[in-house]
Amino acid sequence: MITLNVNGVAHTLDIDPAMPLLYALRNHLSLNGAKYGCGLGQCGACTVIVGDTAVVSCLLPSGAVGDRKVRTIEGLGTAEKPGRLQKGFMDKQAAQCGYCIAGMIMRAQALLDRTPGATEAQIRAELEPNLCRCGTHMRIVAAIVAAAAATPIAHAGEAVDDAA
Ligand code: FES
Ligand code: FES
Repeated sequence: MITLNVNGVAHTLDIDPAMPLLYALRNHLSLNGAKYGCGLGQCGACTVIVGDTAVVSCLLPSGAVGDRKVRTIEGLGTAEKPGRLQKGFMDKQAAQCGYCIAGMIMRAQALLDRTPGATEAQIRAELEPNLCRCGTHMRIVAAIVAAAAATPIAHAGEAVDDAA
């Protein structure tokens, strides 16, 4: 048995600890935002946040997550109340096929969590591991720049509501 805390909810799963986190999320928790692209850690489509770090969930064994909290695209907002990054991607029409987008957003979220108001240069450097086969990188960067500009900077002891 493995307990995974995903988007603030604890789930106890009867799975092999070696099962990649991506499979646990998609096949056992019905969280299908993170995508299977390459299964080799080379495309970023499966990116989620574990603890405070963006990780490729196709390579991370579920049993290695431990007590760290997992965040997926489903935890950032809803269609009715999208998070800042989700809103930025919609406003900039950043998705073409959409397959890479959840991974792009989660890697960007990890950046904005630790660097609110990140610069375009920081965004480009951070997103370097994530590939978009549709080639919509310019709109993706524009969407994240817009979200960074809309991200409030927390002061010590204050929580930041990420939803727009
Ligand atoms: S599916 Fe995980 S990096 Fe490509
Ligand atoms: S929008 Fe199609 S892979 Fe990025």
